[in-house]
Amino acid sequence: MQEGTVITLGRHIVEQERLYPEATGAFSNILYDIALAAKIISREVNRAGLVDIIGSAGKFNIHGDDVRKLDEFANDVMFNALDHTGNLCVMASEEVDDPIPIPDEFPCGNYVLLHDPLDGSSNIDANVSLGTIFSIHRKISRGERGSLEDLLQPGHRQLAAGYIVYGSSTMLVYTTGAGVHGFTLEPSIGEFLLSHPNMRIPDPGKKIYSVNEAYYKRWSPGQQKAVDVLKDEGYSLRYIGSLVADFHRTLLYGGIFMYPADKKSPKGKLRLLYEAAPLAMVIEEAGGASSEGTRSILQVGPSELHQRTPLYLGSKSVVDKVEATLKA
Ligand code: AHG
Ligand code: MN
Ligand code: MN
Repeated sequence: MQEGTVITLGRHIVEQERLYPEATGAFSNILYDIALAAKIISREVNRAGLVDIIGSAGKFNIHGDDVRKLDEFANDVMFNALDHTGNLCVMASEEVDDPIPIPDEFPCGNYVLLHDPLDGSSNIDANVSLGTIFSIHRKISRGERGSLEDLLQPGHRQLAAGYIVYGSSTMLVYTTGAGVHGFTLEPSIGEFLLSHPNMRIPDPGKKIYSVNEAYYKRWSPGQQKAVDVLKDEGYSLRYIGSLVADFHRTLLYGGIFMYPADKKSPKGKLRLLYEAAPLAMVIEEAGGASSEGTRSILQVGPSELHQRTPLYLGSKSVVDKVEATLKA
């Protein structure tokens, strides 16, 4: 990108919208509202260590009364940023068991949002990177308000997907199917600025595999063999234990991220609708591959809102090699 060209997220979204003549602007507003929520979550995540010392504005106080988990805080921020806009017909969140209806006092729109408001939150005390993951679908149910039917859609029908990583800098990465684009938050002006246009995953990229190897003994023989082969080929292990951080590194450096099924968790740990499917859309749009062990995550038809799935994401040649070993 030419030196000095500053493209804000807002300008980029408008330019992307022009690619879709039938676009009404509602879709762009959803992305913009997610970015607003991300800025608020970023501020709290970056202050988390200070809450017990100087308290924080809003929902926390210095005595720790009513101190809500950051997951719940992030969940509330996402809901409050999007519930009244008239663009969504229903939402779903990792933090809420049931579908989240749009309050009756607000109109419903034609879009659906599923999200993991704060991913990796077990790491917050260790100041490890966290994330937010989001997935946007079109409303398909006939009723005026949204329903579970609108939420249980396969990943290949996503209109947009992306994540925010709250790390050494806060980055928002999203795709609408026209490339993957990364924006870095400039806190001094509160704007996400285009820093990584048209992101493509290197293939095969760096020899990095990312998995929690503590579970090795619980894996299938195929999974054990797949990791043994990568190690024999000189791969290094990098595992942060924060999906968004491990994914972001994989997207930038290449290699593979794996959260396999095992004897204790026969469907794996990660959730299909708001962790695996959005990240699968991003990585496949960036030229990489996703799998649940036999096929693309985007082909999986969901039956339950919080269903889990084994998850492989990375450079296509590496994912294909691991898949072949799993199937052998
Ligand atoms: P969440 O904080 O949204 O529940 O997600 C945690 C997930 C994911 O971030 C990470 O990849 C995984 O938990 C790590 O699990 P293990 O500790 O079992 O490796
Ligand atoms: Mn998560
Ligand atoms: Mn979470």
